[in-house]
Amino acid sequence: MQALDTQTTIAVIGAGAMGSGIAQVAAQAGHRVYLHDQRDGAAEAGRDGVAKQLQRRVDKGKMQQQDLDAIIGRIQPVANLDEVADAGLVIEAIIEDLDIKRELLANLENLCTGDAILATNTSSISVTALGAGMKKPERLVGMHFFNPAPLMALVEVVMGLATSKAVAETVHATATAWGKKPVYATSTPGFIVNRVARPFYAESLRLLQEQATDAATLDAIIREAGQFRMGAFELTDLIGHDVNYAVTNSVFNSYFQDPRFLPSLIQKELVEAGRLGRKNGQGFYPYGEGAEKPEPQTEPAHQSDETVVIVEGNPGVAAPLIQRLREAGLTIVERDGPGQLRFGNAVLALTDGRMATERAATDGTSNLVLFDLAFDYSKASRLALAAADQTSEAAVSNACALLQKAGVAVSLLADRPGLVVMRTVAMLANEAADAALHGVATIADIDLAMKAGLNYPEGPLSWSDRLGTGHVFNVLTNIQNSYAEDRYRPALLLRKNAFAQKGFYS
Ligand SMILES: NC(=O)c1ccc[n+]([C@@H]2O[C@H](COP(=O)([O-])OP(=O)(O)OC[C@H]3O[C@@H](n4cnc5c(N)ncnc54)[C@H](O)[C@@H]3O)[C@@H](O)[C@H]2O)c1
Repeated sequence: MQALDTQTTIAVIGAGAMGSGIAQVAAQAGHRVYLHDQRDGAAEAGRDGVAKQLQRRVDKGKMQQQDLDAIIGRIQPVANLDEVADAGLVIEAIIEDLDIKRELLANLENLCTGDAILATNTSSISVTALGAGMKKPERLVGMHFFNPAPLMALVEVVMGLATSKAVAETVHATATAWGKKPVYATSTPGFIVNRVARPFYAESLRLLQEQATDAATLDAIIREAGQFRMGAFELTDLIGHDVNYAVTNSVFNSYFQDPRFLPSLIQKELVEAGRLGRKNGQGFYPYGEGAEKPEPQTEPAHQSDETVVIVEGNPGVAAPLIQRLREAGLTIVERDGPGQLRFGNAVLALTDGRMATERAATDGTSNLVLFDLAFDYSKASRLALAAADQTSEAAVSNACALLQKAGVAVSLLADRPGLVVMRTVAMLANEAADAALHGVATIADIDLAMKAGLNYPEGPLSWSDRLGTGHVFNVLTNIQNSYAEDRYRPALLLRKNAFAQKGFYS
């Protein structure tokens, strides 16, 4: 399907944060753009805001003044809705309210030409429900941009029950022509990103609630081992707890209170306290004048005279860590075994979702210390460790010393199932697998959405393939056993792929 050509006029209704950004994107792509807002002066203010943003680029020498003038010249604020009648694509980005959006769509249907496409930027309202009152719901499609629209590459093209395939394909092709990375999604709660990302916040919140460690340490582990841009607490402080908590509640309630999406009491309390994050100076962290962000818990230097690491069995994804230890001057001895490292009296193993205490008792392993997943063990600057209750202090110290010899900072956590990165990634992959099984989007589009919409270092399903579906399935099964909670039940597709010994892409 062809993209709309630049001769097609685009209309954007609602000139707030999103509408202004979308108008900028369309104008930068060469379209004439009508910008309308019911508030007097808001459309002009929206256009001025775009000019201000672009002026910064001109000042930095990244854009020519004449290009700025041309883009701004193409954005035309219009006072009356009637003036958008000849637009070929109308994108609404007004207040998130079903009835108000329905009324706007009814008005647009009456005044726009029969072949005009109507698109909604809603983040949480069903496109099917929005189309239900329309004469021709087949011409309504979701065109879900991310904030800030000019910078974020992802556009979810959301198909309601009645949306015509041709309409969705035209919007998809148009988004591509505008330099975006569009993905198709069916109109299900949270679409792709706002659904699949829930565990990213939920698992850190849960670990904080269970006093695994503090917020700054969890954030540091997610960044330095997981290679996510921000930890869950930094990110929710930035998003605003009112907004993030509302999205979680909306997804939870839309899925008939499936425990997988259970909101967090800690976040509820922050909202009740008015600690909304950066925007009002206090969230998990303080942001006022002179406020200092707390340091993550990092183990002091541990000494060990040991020089030999015995690698028992296949280290799997942790193989680059062995290489780092070798490069640090340690002697590596390989022999058969269950996939673990011995350093002096310490036995180190990658978490399989069981608590160290439970695993040590069940497998009869003395002095067990579990380590967390890293996105890339050859680069991770920090790793989380958790020791079994039965493990001696000397063994914990040896385990810390071993990682420190490889230049890895160690955060020692209380013994909780699945540690931090492993648990988060397993739950992200689980949610992604469930979304794929339910036909919300394709496997490739889900991974693309999580990378382009949230800057994840890797799509959760391709990450799961790298870890081995069997390992992810084990991790989830073990976490589910630990809590006896439905929240951690492995998704059917993950379970099936684990038994078929295949990945999502193979
Ligand atoms: N802010 C985000 O991060 C984000 C991200 C993706 C999608 N969205 C969605 O985009 C939409 C807009 O969000 P926003 O953050 O830009 O909101 P906003 O409050 O910044 O802007 C909304 C604008 O719509 C105008 N408006 C309200 N009712 C109107 C009507 N009937 N006709 C014309 N104009 C009207 C308001 O005057 C306001 O200027 C919502 O549906 C929201 O869910 C928001």
